[in-house]
Amino acid sequence: MTVDLSITVNGMKFDNPFVLGSGPPGTNGKVIARSFDLGWGGMVAKTFSLDASKVINTAPRYAKHRGRESNEVIGFQNIELISDRPYEDWIDDCKQLKKNYPNKILIASIMEEYNKAAWQRIVREVQETGVDGFELNLSCPHGLPERKMGMAMGENPDIVEEVVGWVKEVARIPVWAKMTPNVGNPTVPAGAALRGGADGIAMINTILSVTGIDLKTFRPLPTVEGHSVPGGYSGQAVRPIALRQVMEVARANPGVEISGIGGIETGTDAAQFMLLGASTVQVCTGAMLRGYEIISELKEELGKFMTDSKFTNIREFVGKSLPYFTTHHDLVDRQKSAREAKEAARAASAGGKAQARDVETWKGDIAKETSGLVTN
Ligand SMILES: Cc1cc2nc3c(=O)[nH]c(=O)nc-3n(C[C@H](O)[C@H](O)[C@H](O)COP(=O)(O)O)c2cc1C
Repeated sequence: MTVDLSITVNGMKFDNPFVLGSGPPGTNGKVIARSFDLGWGGMVAKTFSLDASKVINTAPRYAKHRGRESNEVIGFQNIELISDRPYEDWIDDCKQLKKNYPNKILIASIMEEYNKAAWQRIVREVQETGVDGFELNLSCPHGLPERKMGMAMGENPDIVEEVVGWVKEVARIPVWAKMTPNVGNPTVPAGAALRGGADGIAMINTILSVTGIDLKTFRPLPTVEGHSVPGGYSGQAVRPIALRQVMEVARANPGVEISGIGGIETGTDAAQFMLLGASTVQVCTGAMLRGYEIISELKEELGKFMTDSKFTNIREFVGKSLPYFTTHHDLVDRQKSAREAKEAARAASAGGKAQARDVETWKGDIAKETSGLVTN
């Protein structure tokens, strides 16, 4: 059986559903080109804005959460901002990439201040480069919110709806809204983005976190001149939280295109996001830790899952596990009915055995009664 890994989402044809997520893997045109060569289906470039001079990064800006017994990195924290490369460089990179890779999907991740003119200018200018779609970064949880950007917008449903609306007024290509997980109910901002006209939802961005404290210096990590800020947590450890949030948004918005993100490192991780409603998946930390070459493994593992489960294309199983979520009350009812059905079956089978015994007894009695008779 041959499986087809390609998928068309909002009119964008991905030759496979694996997209490198916005971050270090898409930091400039050169690395994006290399990822296309390696076989990634799509790329979301590192987020950029009109004025890179306002973006000043710190060093260090990463901290790792390792397993107690193994040295494996299970969680990863960053306090990295959006791209500090000049806007004009990004415009050139996008043009060049679309010229050299017309059939690969390139999504521009953009972010601006709460200013309609700025958002509409960046959308107009960037779509002229030929990029296939936009991802609106309404979700970076550190640094940018101090300028009322990123998560400062994404956690406020009214602003989400308004900003997506500004973008949709001028965008001629698909627009995904990238959502923050740092809210109680992810369906509220996602619903606002869809009301604003978003064509799809990308989720999740990183989870606000403090990775740890250095017990010799008492300073939080990562430490910059003795101080720190809470950062964005990603990697394997966030996957269960991301799966839950994707499931909630998929159930609340049947049929909506979701790009699933958060701790995906294998093809079977990806399959789980798809079963919960994602049609594409994005990988950021996994590619940083394991190398961009993992794309071959990811495709192979997803292909094997599909062959084993007899799926020939991805749409056949997007959202297939969603009906198996219910309420606690319903779980209790189902458990009670199952127990009652089992007891009834046991009683019926005991009754059946008793009946069978009665027939045996009756046959025995007949045999006894007739044993003295001679028939001829
Ligand atoms: C170092 C680093 C930088 C990131 N920069 C961005 C960014 O510029 N824009 C954005 O939308 N998300 C950014 N992210 C978030 C990722 O795209 C992704 O949503 C998140 O890390 C969860 O996925 P993962 O576990 O596969 O990394 C960044 C993540 C990391 C680790």
